[in-house]
Amino acid sequence: MKKLLIGNWKLNPTDEATAKKLFSGIKTKASRLRKVKTIICPPSVYVSALAKGATSKCAVGAQDLFWEVKGAFTGQVSAPMIKRLGADYVIVGHSEMRAQGDTNETINKKIKKAFEYRLQVILCIGESERDHDGHYLEFLQNELKEGLYKIPKKLLRNLIVAYEPIWAIGAKAKAASTPQDFLEKSIFIRKVLSHIADKDTAMKIPVLYGGSVNEKNAEGFLTEGKADGLLVGRASLSKDSFNEMLGIAERVK
Ligand code: 13P
Repeated sequence: MKKLLIGNWKLNPTDEATAKKLFSGIKTKASRLRKVKTIICPPSVYVSALAKGATSKCAVGAQDLFWEVKGAFTGQVSAPMIKRLGADYVIVGHSEMRAQGDTNETINKKIKKAFEYRLQVILCIGESERDHDGHYLEFLQNELKEGLYKIPKKLLRNLIVAYEPIWAIGAKAKAASTPQDFLEKSIFIRKVLSHIADKDTAMKIPVLYGGSVNEKNAEGFLTEGKADGLLVGRASLSKDSFNEMLGIAERVK
């Protein structure tokens, strides 16, 4: 399986020219790699401009979608709209969207609609804090079970899961998680996925790590942590940092 390096640009950069320049700087590097697939998720207003230059090695995704395709839904963007702009992927259930009201139920509707329009889904899950009794594992299990409720098994081939513990995300995070911890969580995630679908399907779903990933810790998550890829926030806004991570992902066994 190719390693997936996904850049979630969030509400950055502030203008399209900068977005195009950053994308093209990343694409130059990404195009030379054989063992890595790069996916850049810019704000939706830049998707069209970037998708014009997208390739099979450097694709474009959106950061969210709405589950209806038309009607009185102020501020929303639909699956066919982002698909038509050239996005092949869409992030669903990011903790920053959950904080704005997304629930497992709305996430489930979004995933179903994304699959209907042949978008591949990057489903983000992650707990806000840890507890000694392991309730957070139940929380993760529910995010998967409810988010993927009644989605046909064969569509799960188009799913990518990103484990992003909320406490490890963003500038306020104390630190990233550790490769060993990610490895344990990814085994747990696969076990839950194998109950939702079956073992064979679960083994084929890439499980990524996200949360304060940078060029210093990327290698650990990919080797010791056995991550199928990384979902990168801040460090995906620097061409040099992101390209260094692309090089690391290409090198690791
Ligand atoms: P940071 O890499 O900035 O911590 O963000 C992670 C993230 O939320 C990616 O989706």
